[in-house]
Amino acid sequence: MSAEASLIDGKSVAAALLAEVRAGAEACSSAGVAPCLAVVLVGEDPASQVYVRNKERRAAECGIATRDHRLSATSSTAALLELVRALNEDPAVDGILVQLPLPAGIDAEAVLLAIDPRKDVDGFHPENLGRLMVGRPRFVPCTPQGCMRLLAAAGAELRGRRALVIGRSTIVGKPMAHLLLQADATVTIAHSRTQHLAREVSMAEVVIAAVGRPEMIRGEWIAPGATVIDVGINRSANGGLVGDVEFAGARARARAITPVPGGVGPMTIACLLRNCVDAATWRAGLAPAP
Ligand code: GUN
Repeated sequence: MSAEASLIDGKSVAAALLAEVRAGAEACSSAGVAPCLAVVLVGEDPASQVYVRNKERRAAECGIATRDHRLSATSSTAALLELVRALNEDPAVDGILVQLPLPAGIDAEAVLLAIDPRKDVDGFHPENLGRLMVGRPRFVPCTPQGCMRLLAAAGAELRGRRALVIGRSTIVGKPMAHLLLQADATVTIAHSRTQHLAREVSMAEVVIAAVGRPEMIRGEWIAPGATVIDVGINRSANGGLVGDVEFAGARARARAITPVPGGVGPMTIACLLRNCVDAATWRAGLAPAP
């Protein structure tokens, strides 16, 4: 084993996926179906504005049209539900993305439930999460899907291996655990109440860190030869970006590790667009819808 882990390059893995997405979008367009993503942004959250802009720019590069729906922060739940209903019924819309978080006054759960599961390219609807759980996935949530693609790119062995997911959110930790389970890993989910986290980490051959706390996973906890995927993007005390894993220490022990930035981050948008092109592919009749 080399002294230092190899870096899993999310930018190049994402670029390869985006090339596939572009080819898929072209095939749909040739079949008379122009892939279209509706993007709904409520309020003025600066981080959300940046995310949405990046999604729309990447979509355009891939030949996916976007429809921009901006609502004021004081919009009602009813107004948002009405918009979602209209997008559900619009045959030209393949995917609907409601950017999160929604302003405090809006019932986010009701909004996510209202999205047609066949247009739920985020994969957040309970029907899509349930399908994943029973092993018949339709749309797989983008961040965990991206992590699986990075593990594949890194040549990580999953079958029968001990995988630890740190974090139990509905949009990352829980779907991540199901994907690993489907790949025949032996999966543990750790969370804020887990005791002896260091011991759990030290036993894992694959570590997925999705806690949102800067450098909480210490490098010395990582087992020699482990593969480490760091979902976290946090501001460090000195203003830089750091992951959930203490990078230098982990890199000295791991076999392969994602950098922050440039690891999981670029994968999320690529997977979203991949989901959108899948929806268009089904609409065009180029593949059967699941
Ligand atoms: N906010 C932060 N990440 C995401 C995401 O992946 N999808 C949506 N809809 N909102 C987000």
